[in-house]
Amino acid sequence: VPNVQELARACHGTDGEIPDRYVRPEVAADEAIGGRDINSAIPVIDLAKLLDPQSSQEECAKLGSACQHWGFFQLINHGVPGEVISDTRRDVTEFFRLPLEAKEEYSQLADGLQGYGHSFVFSEEQKLDWGDLLYLQLRPNESRDMRFWPEQPTSFRSASRHKNTIFQVSSIMVMLPGDIWTCSFWLHQSEIQNTSTCVFVRNSIERFSSETAKVARCLLKFLAIDMGVDPESLLEKFRGEPQSMRANYYPPCRQAGKVLGLSPHCDATGLTLVLQVNNVQGLQIRKEGQWLAVDALDGALVVNVGDILEVLSNGRYRSIEHRAVVNPEKERISAAVFHMACRNAMVGPLPELVKDDGKAVYTSMVFEDFMKRFFSMKRNGRGGVEGLM
Ligand code: SIN
Ligand code: FE2
Repeated sequence: VPNVQELARACHGTDGEIPDRYVRPEVAADEAIGGRDINSAIPVIDLAKLLDPQSSQEECAKLGSACQHWGFFQLINHGVPGEVISDTRRDVTEFFRLPLEAKEEYSQLADGLQGYGHSFVFSEEQKLDWGDLLYLQLRPNESRDMRFWPEQPTSFRSASRHKNTIFQVSSIMVMLPGDIWTCSFWLHQSEIQNTSTCVFVRNSIERFSSETAKVARCLLKFLAIDMGVDPESLLEKFRGEPQSMRANYYPPCRQAGKVLGLSPHCDATGLTLVLQVNNVQGLQIRKEGQWLAVDALDGALVVNVGDILEVLSNGRYRSIEHRAVVNPEKERISAAVFHMACRNAMVGPLPELVKDDGKAVYTSMVFEDFMKRFFSMKRNGRGGVEGLM
C-alpha cells in the first residue's frame, strides 16, 4: 500500500489522475443528500460544569443525552493543560513532516497494527483511504512497543535533560543496554542523582496519554451516574485503563470529493477522544442518513461512544458511524485516543441494567472475543454491533 503523503505530492505535481483504488464515487453522491450544515447542533459538554457540584446534575443529564441521541459530543474545559495539547500538536505534526525515510523507520510490520502506515487492508479489492497513520499502544505501560515510538521529534518520547531541576515528571525513562522502560511518578531532589542512566522527560505523548485517560475515567464515572449504576462496576471493565492512539495525516487532495480520508466505521472502544490537531475540519458523523460535519472547535476534544460502551449500557448509548473527508487545499491532522476494556472484562450489558425485568439486548462475551469478532466482521465488509443483538 503506497504512502499517501507521497502519492498526494505526485498527484499534485502532475495534476494527475487519482489511482482507482482511492476513488470513492459514493462521496460525491452523499454530498448531494447531505449539505445541510447543522454543525452547531452537536452537543457541547463542559467538564468543569460536571465537576462543579452546583451544575453537575444538569450537565450530567446533558452528557447522558448527548451519548444517547448523538453518540458524539465536543468536550470543553476538559482540564488537559494547554501545554500538553500544544506539545502533542507540535510533535505529531513534526513527525508527519519528517522525510519519508525517517518515518519509515517506524513502519508497521507485515501483520501488525502498531507503527507508521495505513489502516488494515483486508482484501485486494478494498478501496483505500487517503491518509497515513501512526498507531501506538499507550497503556498499560508494559503494552508499549518502543520500536514504533518516534525518536524525532525528540520530545515525542523523551525530551531535554533537566539536570538537577525539580519539577513534576510525568514519566522517566530508565535506559539499560538494549531496552527501555517507562514509568510514571514524582521525583524528589534526593532521588535525582544518577543522570547517566536517567533522562528526565517532558514527554508529550506520555502526558497526553495520562491526561486523556484521566478525562475518560471521569466521563465514565458521570455516565455511570447517568445510567444509575455504581461507577465502580463500570470502571472495573476498564481496569488498567488500556489505551492506544492513532495519529492521522490526511494530505490535501484537489479532487477531495473523489476520495475519503477514513472509511465509515464505528469504533470498537469504550470511549474515543479526538484532538483535531491542526483545526482543519473533516470528521463527519452519520445522523438520520446524512453526513454531518463535526466542527474543529479549537482546544476541544471530540468524544464518541464506541461499541463497547453501547453494549455495556445495553443500548442506551449509541456508537455512531463516522468517517473523515479530505480538504482540497489543506492537510488535516488528528489524533484519536481509544479507551478499551481490559482483556478479561466481560463485555455485555451491565448486570445492574438488566437485573429486574430488564432484557439484555446484547450477548455478553469476553473482551478478546469481542475484538476478534469485530475484526472478522470488518473483513466481511460489515461492522458495528448489530450482530450481537
Ligand atoms: C476517527 O478516529 O475515527 C476519526 C479521526 C479524525 O477525525 O480524523
Ligand atoms: Fe473512529
